[in-house]
Amino acid sequence: MTDVVNPLRQGLAGDRLPEPTTVVIFGASGDLTRRKLLPALYTLAAERLLPANFAIVGFARKPMTDEAFREDMRQGCERFARARPLDPAVWDAFARGMYYQAGDYEDLAAYQALGERLKAIDLERGVQGNRLFYLSTPPSTFSVAVSRLGAAGLANASRLTPYSRVIIEKPFGTDLATAETLNRNVLQVLDERQVYRIDHYLGKETVQNLMVLRFANGLFEPLWNNRYVDHVEITGAEAIGIEGRGGYFEQAGILRDMVQNHLFQVLAITAMEPPVTTHADDLRGEKVKVLKALRPIPEGRFGEYVVRGQYVEGSVAGRRQVGYRQEPGVNPTSNTETYVGLKIFIDNWRWGGVPFYLRSGKALPKKVTEVALVFREAPLRLFGDSARTAQSPNVLAIRIQPDEGVSLRFGAKVPGNTLDIQPVNMEFRYGTSFGTEPPEAYERLLLDCMLGDQALFTRGDEVEASWRWVGKIHQQWDSSAEPVETYQAGTWGPAGADLLLQRGGHAWRRP
Ligand code: BG6
Repeated sequence: MTDVVNPLRQGLAGDRLPEPTTVVIFGASGDLTRRKLLPALYTLAAERLLPANFAIVGFARKPMTDEAFREDMRQGCERFARARPLDPAVWDAFARGMYYQAGDYEDLAAYQALGERLKAIDLERGVQGNRLFYLSTPPSTFSVAVSRLGAAGLANASRLTPYSRVIIEKPFGTDLATAETLNRNVLQVLDERQVYRIDHYLGKETVQNLMVLRFANGLFEPLWNNRYVDHVEITGAEAIGIEGRGGYFEQAGILRDMVQNHLFQVLAITAMEPPVTTHADDLRGEKVKVLKALRPIPEGRFGEYVVRGQYVEGSVAGRRQVGYRQEPGVNPTSNTETYVGLKIFIDNWRWGGVPFYLRSGKALPKKVTEVALVFREAPLRLFGDSARTAQSPNVLAIRIQPDEGVSLRFGAKVPGNTLDIQPVNMEFRYGTSFGTEPPEAYERLLLDCMLGDQALFTRGDEVEASWRWVGKIHQQWDSSAEPVETYQAGTWGPAGADLLLQRGGHAWRRP
């Protein structure tokens, strides 16, 4: 590890150490626990960001001993923790505070038994009753788990000190109605201050850097509006297919899987007004205003605003990719979208008239998440038509991943005795400037939750606002007999995706 000071680590949560805490992970035998949660907690331990009095309890249906759980988690951390190889001394201390409790998510008695175990761990580890429950279980169990936590006296609205907080994994609902019901059920037991709806994109360093870029610099914000920005492109492309998750993806589709949550959060942070402070409610208040200002798709003009696609067999970076309909668990006549392209207008003073184009897809040529602001042309072509600036507008691109950084494209004179202007890039690369890789999103989010900072978690009204907009698209698709367009795996989506932009005289960037 390096000693380089990373200013982004000192962001919204500050540098406080969390109070003594027990993290209880529901769904502890699942993939997320092994791949992400425990590796993130271990890395926090290795970076000395966890309190000395700390414990982890895995909770799941499968019977397992503490020892077997520790061993399983050690293997997960060895493979996936950012702080690798494991430091034996750190690991031993970390693993001593790790326990496992088997139980059914529906069974009140299991929660009561968990409560007894937690009391014993409080004494053993000096944790003093602070608890963070992480629901990494199937979404159908979220409501019942919260209700049982309440009934067993483990979490309720008055339990703020010592605290009980609940992190709820995605998806938070599958449409507006289910999200509203889930919010209602959760808030019958908990206070909103105890609810941490996770969207791991908010924990990504470069998503936070987007806020730093905008609000810690005087340079960009004056240009960040419809006077100077022509259009905005937000891309969430992935090279992988659905990776064996056919059953889930058939129900979800890319609009639910990536857009309603991750890309809408990126959109909201890109478009929001400067918050008064970085406190959770000021920040989330600004994001929700953006989501509420999204213009409904005009009646009868759906095709001008929404494009969906599904990959057929092809090759991605030299690897053969079977078609979506041939994936295990997928209906061979499925109409589920693995690509979506959207044109969105934000009806407010800052953004009136500026199209925001969003796209997300599986089996595209490469993994890239970026936000690109494409600026208007200079008001006068002083250098005549021979100058090539017209085809190359100024672009500010914020690469969220991989190769995290920011680039600014502008025209420069090619050296020589003729006047030829060519686009060049000014680049900031995270790795080069700070000599370090950005931390994992889950590290930051778990730490923030222990610190009681909700800024990087979504609020109930935000989730509902995004479902309200996205739900209209699902309704249209559900009532339409039009088959989904196809695209070959390894290409940049269906032909309709290009048309979506061409109508406005624009074209997708090739990131
Ligand atoms: C998850 C989706 O929420 O995000 C996956 O369910 C997707 O389908 C993943 O692959 C992308 O996350 P990241 O961090 O790899 O961009």
